[in-house]
Parts: sequence; C-alpha cells; structure tokens
Amino acid sequence: MMERRDFLKSCGFALGAGAALGGPLAPVAGAAERIFAPADQAGPAPGDYNSIPVRGLKPDVPRQVSVIIIGAGNRGNVYAAYAEKFPEAMKIVGVSDILDYRTKRLSDKHGVAPEMRFGHFREVFASGKKLADAVVIATPDDRHYEPCMKALELGYDVLLEKPVAQTEKECKAILRQAKKYGRIVGVCHVLRYAPYFLAMKEVVDSGVLGQIVSIQHLEAIRYAHMAHSYVRGNWRDSNETTPIILAKSCHDLDILRWIIGKPCKSIVADGNLFFFKKENAPEGAPMYCTDGCPHADKCPYNAITIYTKLKQHLGVFDLNGNKDPEFILSRLKDPRYSNYARCVFHCDNNQPDHYVADMMFDGGVSVSFAMSAFVSHGSRRTRIMGTMGFLDGDLTQFTVWDYLTRTPKVWNRKVSDIPEYRGSGHGGGDLALARDFVEAVAWQDPGRLSSSIDVSLESHMMGFAAERSRRSGKKEKV
Ligand SMILES: NC(=O)c1ccc[n+]([C@@H]2O[C@H](COP(=O)([O-])OP(=O)(O)OC[C@H]3O[C@@H](n4cnc5c(N)ncnc54)[C@H](O)[C@@H]3O)[C@@H](O)[C@H]2O)c1
Repeated sequence: MMERRDFLKSCGFALGAGAALGGPLAPVAGAAERIFAPADQAGPAPGDYNSIPVRGLKPDVPRQVSVIIIGAGNRGNVYAAYAEKFPEAMKIVGVSDILDYRTKRLSDKHGVAPEMRFGHFREVFASGKKLADAVVIATPDDRHYEPCMKALELGYDVLLEKPVAQTEKECKAILRQAKKYGRIVGVCHVLRYAPYFLAMKEVVDSGVLGQIVSIQHLEAIRYAHMAHSYVRGNWRDSNETTPIILAKSCHDLDILRWIIGKPCKSIVADGNLFFFKKENAPEGAPMYCTDGCPHADKCPYNAITIYTKLKQHLGVFDLNGNKDPEFILSRLKDPRYSNYARCVFHCDNNQPDHYVADMMFDGGVSVSFAMSAFVSHGSRRTRIMGTMGFLDGDLTQFTVWDYLTRTPKVWNRKVSDIPEYRGSGHGGGDLALARDFVEAVAWQDPGRLSSSIDVSLESHMMGFAAERSRRSGKKEKV
C-alpha cells in the first residue's frame, strides 16, 4: 500500500525535515475540544505535535559579542536582558538614551564605563570609530533610519527594531547600506522565533496540510493595549511613527509571508478609526481621566482603572518597582507621563482601530487578514486551509486536522513551562531572537537569523502597499 508520505511526494508536495513529526505521542486530553471540531472528526486525538523540539536559549558562540544599546526604554532593556542570562556570549559595553536616568539605569546594571554612557545616538557615532561589535537600535520608529545608516557605515552589525524605517525609500536604503558595507542587520520580527510559530512553520513545511490554498488571520489587540499604545501612547500618530499596519501588524504580515513561503503579489485593504474620537465622548467627559470623569465606572478605557487598579502597561512610567496605586496616580498627573491619563476620546490619535486586508500570493494563495482593537485579550488566530489538511491556532495552541485520518493533532506547549524561556516576551521570541543575533554576529553568519533585513523588507513592502490601498481604495501591487 502506498504510504501517505509517498502519496504526498507523488503529488509533488514538499516534505521537509519535519515530515516525521507524528510519532507515537501521548494524547492531549481535551485539547482538541477547546477549538471547534469538524463534523467528520473520527475520534479523540491520537497524538500531538509537542515533540517538535524547542531550542534552548543558550547560544552556540565562539566568542563574546560586545553591544551598544541605543534606546534604553522597553525594547532596549528586553534585548539587554540576554546579556544578563548569558554574559559569556553578550556584553553590554555602551548605552545611549536621551533620558539620562534611562542611560544610567541600564549602564549601572551592566557596569558600562563612564565614557560609553551616551545621550543622543549621534554621540555614539561622534568619534567616527567603531566601539563595539554591534548596536541594538530600539529608539522610536522615526529614529531608526539615521542611526542604522550611520552604524552600518562605521562597520557595526545591527539589531534593528521594527518597523525598519518610516518609508519604503528608507527601508530600501538600509538594505543597500547593509550590502555596501557587508554588515548583518537583524530585524526584530520576534514572532518568527517564538516556539509556537516555529512549530506551526514546521508542520506546514512537513506537507501534512498539502498545498496551502488560503489563510485567515486575525490580529486581536486587547482593548486596553489599543488605548495605551495607539490612542494615548507613542504610536497614536501614524505620521510621527508608522501606520498601524506597520507599527503593529508588520509582525503578522511577516509571519504570513514566512509561513506561505511565497511572495505576496497584491493587496487590497480598508479600515478606519471607528471609536476613539471626539464625537464618541460621553457628555461631560473631561480631557483627562484624572480630572474626575463622571463616566469612570462605566468606561473600560479609564486610565485610573487600567494603570492603578489593573496595573497594566506600567513599563512607561519608570516606577522602579514601586506599584503603589498612589504613586502610579502621581505619575499619571505628572506632565512627563500625563498623555496616558488622557480621555481616549480626546487624544490626538489617528491610527485605525480596525483594519482588513485581502492579499494574493504567488501561485494563487489567498489571505484574509483582520486586525481589531475590540477584543478582551491580545491574541492571534490563524486558520490555514490546505488541500490535505486544516490548521487552526490561537497563539497558545494549534490543532491540525488531516483529511485522510480525520483525527486532530495538537501543539499546546506552554512556553512558560520551559525554564529558560520564562520572562521572554512574545511567546519566547524576544530572547530567542537575541540568541540568534548574537550567534550571527559571533560567527559572522547572517544565515543564523531568520529575520535578516533581506527577507524582512518584503513584509514591510506588503505593509506599505496595504496602507496605500487603504487610502486609495484601490488594489495595490506589492
Ligand atoms: N519587536 C516588537 O515586538 C516591538 C514591540 C514594541 C515596540 N517595538 C519597537 O521598538 C522601538 C522602541 O519601542 P519601545 O517600546 O522600547 O519605546 P520606548 O519609548 O520604551 O523606548 C525608546 C527609547 O528611545 C529613547 N530615545 C528617543 N530618542 C532617542 C535618541 N535620539 N537617542 C537615543 N535614545 C533615544 C527614548 O528616550 C526611550 O527611552 C519602536 O520602534 C517600537 O515600534 C517593537
């Protein structure tokens, strides 16, 4: 009898290294029921995909890599944390931030020499000399291009936060600069490094789904996250930063491009700012939630509730561990942080709070993408429809139904159960990216990074095309 593997091969389906994934594995009780079950499901799960190996965070390096962190805010600290875990592989030798206390805080933690503590990133490059192996660029979106171009010119390898830059032209210029100076640029598309997406990619590449025909992908932004980052916070103005399809959803476009493994040809997008605008303000709502809003108890976006009671998104307040509600409230009233106290209907925001995009990939693969800010919890829901099977995932687990066996198989590893990964954000992707970047620099091998600038630019171009389409109402070529 013809084996399934041979059948797939005879149909011309690619079978990668992951093809032998389904071994004699233990069933996952109840896992399949958590997602809807197709009507023709034959029975309980016979096995799972949890045996797909998850690589540890320990790097394989021939030497220590020295790094300067540019932008010692949230993301700069995330990547610097890798040096705390694996000091033999990565050493922070310089820190730059325009806020002195942030430079000091991170520098003190890593014992950075006084002469390597910088303010503006231009100070890092002022001597015209290369002071470390690499720089991490974790400044705001509108301050990626200049330091990246300069760092490459001086011979640094670069770990560059997404979005790469604010325009297509600048993105392409960075790619050219990297080629010109022969340097490595890793883009922080952290989801590619998360065990969940790595397992999903391995299953797709195994051929068990046959050929991918279409994908549905929902990026669910938690309502309070939307309010914090894209209404009140740093990414509220698409002109100062980037349109939300890049600022937030470039991760999703990148994952879709990566999973499909083919280029996107065209895109048609729509979306708007539906809710967070002045005309929706309830009567009598003051400019700031801290000014005694009469609707405080009925508004889920109330700043006092989100920050002092729920204690969410506190990273922006420089609390140094003090989470006392009164202290947080004093921060909300402090002009340095009071943007976060603003009524969500009285902000200077313009980012859409819902966005849809239909894409056509090479070979006729279709993708339907949706982003919404009105969801109880942040998540990503991906349904991959193939000629031989169907995959349905929600970022914590995915289930694969094979049309021949009609039985589901599940991946549902808890990344927090893997000790090394504890505390690594984005489903473990943050520190796994740092590991691969350190290895790429230490070996001078960009192939160790799956999100090098070359491949990352493609999904950025999808984002720019989506935004053109949203504005023009026309289908755009990528
Ligand atoms: N990969 C991801 O998943 C992810 C997640 C969040 C943010 N980001 C991106 O990371 C970047 C940083 O975001 P963040 O959340 O860390 O912001 P942040 O505001 O916490 O940190 C940015 C830091 O840069 C500093 N800075 C500003 N101008 C500077 C200059 N000229 N020289 C030196 N330092 C300067 C700021 O003072 C601040 O401390 C942004 O581009 C953002 O879009 C990526």
